[in-house]
Amino acid sequence: MPTIQRLSALEILDSRGRPTVQATCQLASGAAATVSVPSGASTGTAEAHELRDGDPQRYRGLGCRKAVQNIRGELNRALANRPFRDQAELDTAMIDLDGTPNKSRLGANALVAVSLAFARACAVEQGIPLYRHFANLIGQPVTALPRPMINLFSGGKHAGGQVSIQDVQVMPLSARTIDDLLAMTYAVFQSAADLMYRQYGMRLLTADEGGLAPAFSSAEEMLDLSVQSIRAAGLEPGRDVALTVDVAASHFHDAGCYRLGAEILDGPAMVNRLLSWLDRYPIASLEDGLAEEDWPHWSMLLSQAGSRTLILGDDLLCTNPARIRRAIDSRAANALLLKVNQIGTLTEAMEACTLAKSAGWRVVVSARSGETEDNWLADLAVGWSGDHIKVGSITQSERLAKYNRLLAIEVETRIQVA
Ligand code: PGA
Ligand code: ZN
Repeated sequence: MPTIQRLSALEILDSRGRPTVQATCQLASGAAATVSVPSGASTGTAEAHELRDGDPQRYRGLGCRKAVQNIRGELNRALANRPFRDQAELDTAMIDLDGTPNKSRLGANALVAVSLAFARACAVEQGIPLYRHFANLIGQPVTALPRPMINLFSGGKHAGGQVSIQDVQVMPLSARTIDDLLAMTYAVFQSAADLMYRQYGMRLLTADEGGLAPAFSSAEEMLDLSVQSIRAAGLEPGRDVALTVDVAASHFHDAGCYRLGAEILDGPAMVNRLLSWLDRYPIASLEDGLAEEDWPHWSMLLSQAGSRTLILGDDLLCTNPARIRRAIDSRAANALLLKVNQIGTLTEAMEACTLAKSAGWRVVVSARSGETEDNWLADLAVGWSGDHIKVGSITQSERLAKYNRLLAIEVETRIQVA
């Protein structure tokens, strides 16, 4: 049984230059591992609580010294020198110690850091790759690699709101390896950059997840240019490369209405708008097409579009088993966006994953918009047999750390993409 000898932690900076938490777990066997946790900007209301210091004089209140101190102090005192039968026993001990429904006392950022560092240390102790350890935890063999959804264009909260919808990703379909699929994405990304240069006359700045973020005049323009970029790369939209869209509609929803650019749409009109996009564009997945509490219109959308595209819940579900159960029962979605730090421990995220799969849903394992150079997410997506992985663009090292890890796993396992 693994016994924690010592937990330590450090406040580090994420890809937006904001503080986040890094934890190191040292086991009595001598095995040790370090993990860094990401942080979102387009967050769901039902997410577990990310503990920030709140001191306006330091990082505008975003410091993580309290969360770090909770790992070094209280969590270390309570968990060190105690054997844990497994991951679930450790995670339950932390949840009990925190004692709040949303992990607000010790901080979900502290708990998730310890949870993941313990998992990685256990893999080190056993001398196995992290993805293998994750597969053992969930009790399923790895038979396919996840097919990435790769950020091309951004708007919404990831790009200063110049267009309402948040992200358009490309999903290469005709490639069977991560290697081929990244090369295909590079071709599309470069075509998009050339098109943008001609259209907007400037070298484009990139958004939080490394996507291009020109001043689109509408969501449709963003989608049109995505299709044009695929064509300009010599590829066939829908056959070689599909689009996946994160509408992130919670963030332009107010008082029952959706403010899509200059338009104000009620729930049924928003559903109709989404259906029109599905008719016009090769969209394989529609994430958060509706707001996080707009349950009736989620059900309306699923009944009308669920057979032809993924109706993917991010803010709606927050990787929370209770919300996933509600969505299964009310037929509100058919795919889960899985972010471990939305719920705060690996065990609860695994429960979310298993529940979604048992309902026949697809699972998309996702990074956050504020990321670090850590690559555990790639191992998680492989180990838990995620159908897809969503990491952002192919332009920034915090994103590439995950793609590069997938390339290495592909060579090591010789397993193809689903
Ligand atoms: P985040 O959201 O900015 O909260 O990480 C990303 C997403 O909406 O998928
Ligand atoms: Zn999202």
